[in-house]
Amino acid sequence: MKFTHIAGVLATLTSSTGVLAQQQTNNQTGPFLLKLTSTNETLNGNYLGACHAGAAIEALCLIGKNISTINRSAATFFWNYTIYDGQPSESGSLVWTLQLSGGIMNVSEPLSVSYNPGTNVAVPMLTPGGVAQQVGFNGSTLYVPGYPDDSNFKYGEYPTNLSTTQLTNWHACWLFAGSYYYNALAWVTSGAPHNPTCQADEAPEQDEAPEQNEAEEDEDEEDQEEA
Ligand SMILES: *[C@@H]1O[C@H](CO)[C@@H](O)[C@H](O)[C@H]1NC(C)=O
Ligand SMILES: *[C@@H]1O[C@H](CO)[C@@H](O)[C@H](O)[C@H]1NC(C)=O
Ligand SMILES: *[C@@H]1O[C@H](CO)[C@@H](O)[C@H](O)[C@H]1NC(C)=O
Ligand SMILES: *[C@@H]1O[C@H](CO)[C@@H](O)[C@H](O)[C@H]1NC(C)=O
Ligand SMILES: *[C@@H]1O[C@H](CO)[C@@H](O)[C@H](O)[C@H]1NC(C)=O
Ligand SMILES: *[C@@H]1O[C@H](CO)[C@@H](O)[C@H](O)[C@H]1NC(C)=O
Ligand SMILES: *[C@@H]1O[C@H](CO)[C@@H](O)[C@H](O)[C@H]1NC(C)=O
Ligand SMILES: *[C@@H]1O[C@H](CO)[C@@H](O)[C@H](O)[C@H]1NC(C)=O
Repeated sequence: MKFTHIAGVLATLTSSTGVLAQQQTNNQTGPFLLKLTSTNETLNGNYLGACHAGAAIEALCLIGKNISTINRSAATFFWNYTIYDGQPSESGSLVWTLQLSGGIMNVSEPLSVSYNPGTNVAVPMLTPGGVAQQVGFNGSTLYVPGYPDDSNFKYGEYPTNLSTTQLTNWHACWLFAGSYYYNALAWVTSGAPHNPTCQADEAPEQDEAPEQNEAEEDEDEEDQEEA
């Protein structure tokens, strides 16, 4: 009978949806801070923090090296990932929480990358509903999973090596984030940066964020990095 057939299909759809929901779950690590390491001492040790670039849009600015004076709410990040069939994903999204009106409403913003056709210097931005750039951590080092390296492609030959690499093309550059001119984290797609102010960085390192859920709880802050 048609009806029973449809009912059977519906039952199958419903149960497979149930199975999917069971297999994939979301999880999060954090809070943590992100610290730049660089061979350039001026930049080395700077923390990254969200800096205003438009309505609910932020870039990742260099906000100083002293953990006890940086703006912790700007500098606190999380990493969202999925667990599928018990296996955690290697990459996920870096997220930051925008607090509106002092926390009356919180917006979770993933890191996405804003490209400009005139330069190879792209700008990592935090935007609500942005298409998250997949990122992962190798140990504490932030990387972007890279797709097959097209510098090895051969004319008319389908590439055989489709493996991914961990790209760490991070730089600190003076750049435009919206209409703001900032010294901020940049992503250089490939080659030497088009923007001469860019300084090569090692990848940002995940730095443990001391527990600090209450805004006024400042007492333990200074002990974190002094040892
Ligand atoms: C989710 O993340 C927490 C904190 O990192 C961890 O303790 C927990 O084991 C994770 N859950 C799963 C199912 O992996
Ligand atoms: C280090 O970075 C600073 C700030 O961007 C820059 O002014 C300086 O020229 C850099 N030093 C070197 C050796 O590149
Ligand atoms: C960091 O800031 C604190 C508080 O202002 C200050 O006491 C300390 O000397 C600073 N540390 C460094 C290395 O500048
Ligand atoms: C700290 O950063 C948050 C988030 O960017 C911002 O709303 C707040 O105004 C900043 N606080 C100070 C004192 O700059
Ligand atoms: C927003 O986040 C802040 C800091 O974590 C928290 O104190 C506040 O309760 C949150 N607000 C809501 C509506 O969840
Ligand atoms: C990140 O994960 C948290 C906890 O699961 C969730 O509340 C938040 O909406 C997620 N953010 C994004 C941008 O997916
Ligand atoms: C992770 O980082 C280590 C140390 O830098 C490196 O040896 C290793 O190759 C990296 N893992 C991958 C998968 O690239
Ligand atoms: C395949 O590509 C990866 C990433 O570009 C590279 O590390 C690896 O050496 C390549 N393997 C071969 C056999 O060419």
